[in-house]
Amino acid sequence: MRTIVWNENQKSVEIIDQNALPLEYKTVNLLTYQDVVFAIQHMTVRGAPAIGVTGAYGMALAALHSSKTDLDAMKAELYEVAQEIGNARPTAVNLWNLINHTLAYINQFDGYVDELKDHLLNLAHRLAEEDVETNLRLSKFGAELINDGDRIVHHCNTGALATVDYGTALGVIRMAHEQGKKIHVYVDETRPRLQGARLTAWELKQYGIPYDIITDSSSGHLMQMGLVDKVFFGADRVAMNGDVANKIGSYMLALAAVDNKIPVYSVFPVSTVDAKISSGKEIEIEQRDPREVLDITLGKEIVVPSGATAVNYAFDVTPNRLLTGLVTEHGVLYPPFFEKLDKIIREE
Ligand code: MRU
Repeated sequence: MRTIVWNENQKSVEIIDQNALPLEYKTVNLLTYQDVVFAIQHMTVRGAPAIGVTGAYGMALAALHSSKTDLDAMKAELYEVAQEIGNARPTAVNLWNLINHTLAYINQFDGYVDELKDHLLNLAHRLAEEDVETNLRLSKFGAELINDGDRIVHHCNTGALATVDYGTALGVIRMAHEQGKKIHVYVDETRPRLQGARLTAWELKQYGIPYDIITDSSSGHLMQMGLVDKVFFGADRVAMNGDVANKIGSYMLALAAVDNKIPVYSVFPVSTVDAKISSGKEIEIEQRDPREVLDITLGKEIVVPSGATAVNYAFDVTPNRLLTGLVTEHGVLYPPFFEKLDKIIREE
């Protein structure tokens, strides 16, 4: 299942509409870079690697539609576009990492503007392919951590939908399943956007992996009952010391797991590492519209009192001390993480 596809006829980026799932499977065509910004902000496309690659396609779309004939003028225009796309969502660093990668290419380019247009589209294609290859590689490493019969708690959605294809933490689970291991997944519903209940459950159904959806606050109890063997989740930004920002609720899940002596793994491609920051304290945590929390309905009725207010942080930081290991395309890293991440980043 490809989440992001280039449509050559329409010269558009075709993405799966993640807000429509699981009620409806439909795709949306992003024709301009402004469409890309809108889709990222409104989470039509979501998940750190997926928004990174969509952002790179956004740069290609901006170049394609640019009327500039002078190379320097086009470069200046693309620099402005990069700020808009890169700032569409603040926490997942994959977005800025891939935008900066694209900007570095633009900066060193010296040729005709039409060539730059072609090259930026090819670069986006290459980044999309690399994402799939990376996910397959890290999933193989991660699958070795899973035993036959494991019962796994998974948070948010980290599957094909959150990437270009295959997935990260869910990719690991999928790989273990494809290797013939019997697995049961407890799917955190992931309030307030329900990425677990809507998207992860939908993906697990496609793959034929048995699961139960649980409320986000259930995992501690399941662990105390001896029903959980491992915890896997993804990452939106990883500091050099191994602190992991991921979907809100990951921290509490890790706390409960450590208290119950259950291993916790965060799975991510190296493009999710922010080499500029040494600790999770430096990570900007996105705050989203309180309506995402307040608009919950029972039947058709809003349940909160009128005038109720809400605080809606979209991510939290799991400190490195709660993480058993970090699964990357370079293998599984164990604490202390700094030197290992540093070596990988230097060699990339
Ligand atoms: O707000 P979202 O749905 O974009 O958040 C996604 C997550 O937190 C994922 O766990 C993370 O991006 C890793 S996806 C491979």
